[in-house]
Parts: sequence; C-alpha cells; structure tokens
Amino acid sequence: ASQLPEGYTIRPLQRGDYAKGFLDVLRVLTTVGDVTEEQWNQRYEWLAQHNDQYFLLSILDSSSRIVGTGALIVERKFIHNLGLVGHIEDIAVAKDQQGKKLGLRIIQALDYVAEKVGCYKSILDCSEANEGFYVKCGFRRAGLEMAHYY
Ligand code: ACO
Repeated sequence: ASQLPEGYTIRPLQRGDYAKGFLDVLRVLTTVGDVTEEQWNQRYEWLAQHNDQYFLLSILDSSSRIVGTGALIVERKFIHNLGLVGHIEDIAVAKDQQGKKLGLRIIQALDYVAEKVGCYKSILDCSEANEGFYVKCGFRRAGLEMAHYY
C-alpha cells in the first residue's frame, strides 16, 4: 500500500514548479503572498546550492499539476556527537486531494531522506487538529512549541 495513486509522482522540487501550482498548494497552509517568478528563481537557486540541508518535495497528479508538498531541513548540532536533526516543515496537500494518503507519502519520503542522511530524529510543530495525522505517520507528541514573532 506504500504507493501513490495511479499516474501520480513524487520528486524533488524543480525550478519549473512555479508554473505547476506549487505556491497554490502552500496556500492551503498559510499566507504565501505575491511571489514573482524572479523571486521564486532566486530562492530556488539558493535552495539548490544548499541541497544537502534543504529537501523539498512535490507530488504531481496525472496532469502534472502539483497537489502536495513538504520540506525537510537538516540541522547540524554539536550535541549528541555532532548529531543531525530533521525538521519537517510546510506539509500541504491541495484541498481537493486530501484523504488520498498523499500527506502520508510526503512524510514517509521525508522520513526516508532524514534517516538516510543520518538524522537521529525528526521533529515538527503542528496544530492540535493535525495531531492525529502525524500520529498515523509514526510521530508522537513531545514537548511544546513556543514562538516569538518579530
Ligand atoms: N486528524 C486525524 N487524522 C487525520 C487528519 C487529521 N487532521 N488528517 C488526516 N488524517 C488521517 C487520515 O484519515 C489517514 O488515516 P487512515 O490511514 O486511517 O486512513 C492518515 O491520517 C493519512 O492521511 P492522508 O490522506 O495522507 O492525509 P492528507 O493527504 O489529507 O494530508 C494534511 C494531511 C497534510 C494535514 C492535509 O490535510 C493538509 O494539507 N492540510 C492543510 C495544511 C496543513 O495543515 N498542513 C500541516 C501543517 S503542520 C506542518 O507543516 C509541519
């Protein structure tokens, strides 16, 4: 059962994802703002230069529209013998595509990368409303998020 629906694909972010609706998928999560293609390209280049730390994924449907995304950021620590910690961020599935296990597949793919690069754990912040989803993905409640906005 560890497969995507027929015709769907999961792969690393590509520069051309701007035109395939990547930012629209993120809009189910929060405010994205008006990011121009030039701004996208600049950020994409930076991410591509840091591709040992930033792993962004896109899921495409059979018509090559982006319907899901997620990111893993690998933090390099001194503690735990120079341990690596994975931070899972910005998980989003298009509204009309939710409930097809796409979110689960994104988390499984990011978990796979995290383990493969040597992370000893991956962590994330989420709302109470999403706790059940992450529990189904193998996570458990640990700690408390605090934020300081600037
Ligand atoms: N509460 C409890 N269980 C849930 C929830 C939920 N909110 N959402 C999904 N599940 C369950 C499903 O029923 C399924 O269970 P099953 O295996 O028993 O059938 C399992 O979790 C897997 O669900 P998926 O179909 O993979 O979930 P989906 O593809 O809809 O993705 C997601 C879930 C990412 C939360 C999606 O609903 C979404 O994009 N929501 C809006 C954006 C958002 O809140 N993103 C997460 C922010 S937190 C972060 O980014 C770190």
